[in-house]
Amino acid sequence: MTDAVQTHSPDARFTPRVFSGIQPSGDLHLGNYLGALKRFVEMQASGIETVYCMVDLHAITVWQDPKTLRQKTREVAASYIATGVDPKRSIIFNQSQVMQHAELAWVFNCVARIGWMNRMTQFKDKAGKNRENASLGLYAYPSLMAADILLYRGTHVPVGDDQKQHLELTRDIAGKFNNDFKSEIVEEGFEDGDFFPITEPLISGPAMRIMSLRDGTKKMSKSDPSEMACIALMDDADMIAKKLRKAKTDPEPLPSEVEGLEGRPEARNLVEIYAALSNQTSEQVLQEFGGQGFGVFKPALADLAVDHLAPISAEISRMLAEPDEIDSILRDGAERAGEIAEETMKHVRQIVGFLS
Ligand code: TYM
Repeated sequence: MTDAVQTHSPDARFTPRVFSGIQPSGDLHLGNYLGALKRFVEMQASGIETVYCMVDLHAITVWQDPKTLRQKTREVAASYIATGVDPKRSIIFNQSQVMQHAELAWVFNCVARIGWMNRMTQFKDKAGKNRENASLGLYAYPSLMAADILLYRGTHVPVGDDQKQHLELTRDIAGKFNNDFKSEIVEEGFEDGDFFPITEPLISGPAMRIMSLRDGTKKMSKSDPSEMACIALMDDADMIAKKLRKAKTDPEPLPSEVEGLEGRPEARNLVEIYAALSNQTSEQVLQEFGGQGFGVFKPALADLAVDHLAPISAEISRMLAEPDEIDSILRDGAERAGEIAEETMKHVRQIVGFLS
């Protein structure tokens, strides 16, 4: 268990429950692994109830080829399991099989304010210059994400740094809902008038923002046009080693102190990757490698990454050969998730004033 994992709920009135999700919209990469998946497994080990989702409803906010979407959803599911998420100990499912996600998202569309949504930087980045032509779903995306988390009254959400703003919005939506419907919430039996928890983001450690291997100022991303920028979870050992050997660096040796990484984004990124893969801090990595050049550090990093990732990619391939088994795990997960989701929605329908 890392320091970042708290086993108590930040708000003691709510039972601790972890929720997180990944879009099945491209190949998973080292950033997804270190920023999310590896921490999903740590949270599972902490004993808190854990619910993990493949967010296919989010994926279709930009065009997805239907056949590829199905395949990618299975790939993400296989990646969860191959990295150690255990379908018996955690609930894993794809979002579209639990229709309450879309239902709660609609209620939240009516709670969130347009001014809040207009501040979301991810929409601005993704819509780019062609904003008028972006889907309405892409704009409403963060409200669906709030629904994902709050449907399970999730108290802890492990994510990378890029999701921070969405989690702040989730807190705002929960707070406004609790406030707007205070008296109905009390009538529904929640005496202190708070139905949704104010979720705690879990964003910490060296891996919260893994950067591109070609440009240390840019996030490692599924959509990077350069193949060499990103280590995919499905890359084989040779490819991983090659990408790390060719990663951009500078001519200086590594410093012995973290302060020496200032202004050296590529060096910092490789040190942070090493730290996250070996469960150390950057300080510890620099104690070992300070004063060494990249001629020594890169091969050590490549060995570490290959040792860590090669068994994962082999397990993903093995699982993908049995798609029916994956589908059945997801159906089972969706059933278990659906029970929690329906329990929440029964209250929400009552609180909002829907006849049922
Ligand atoms: P997505 O699919 O883009 O990414 C999945 C997870 O990987 C993390 N991540 C990174 N972490 C470190 N370094 C990187 N370079 C890097 N790139 C990605 C992301 O922060 C994320 O944790 N909106 C979410 C999916 C989502 C979700 C949710 C997450 C939908 N509903 C509810 C949590 C809770 C997304 O697009 O993640």
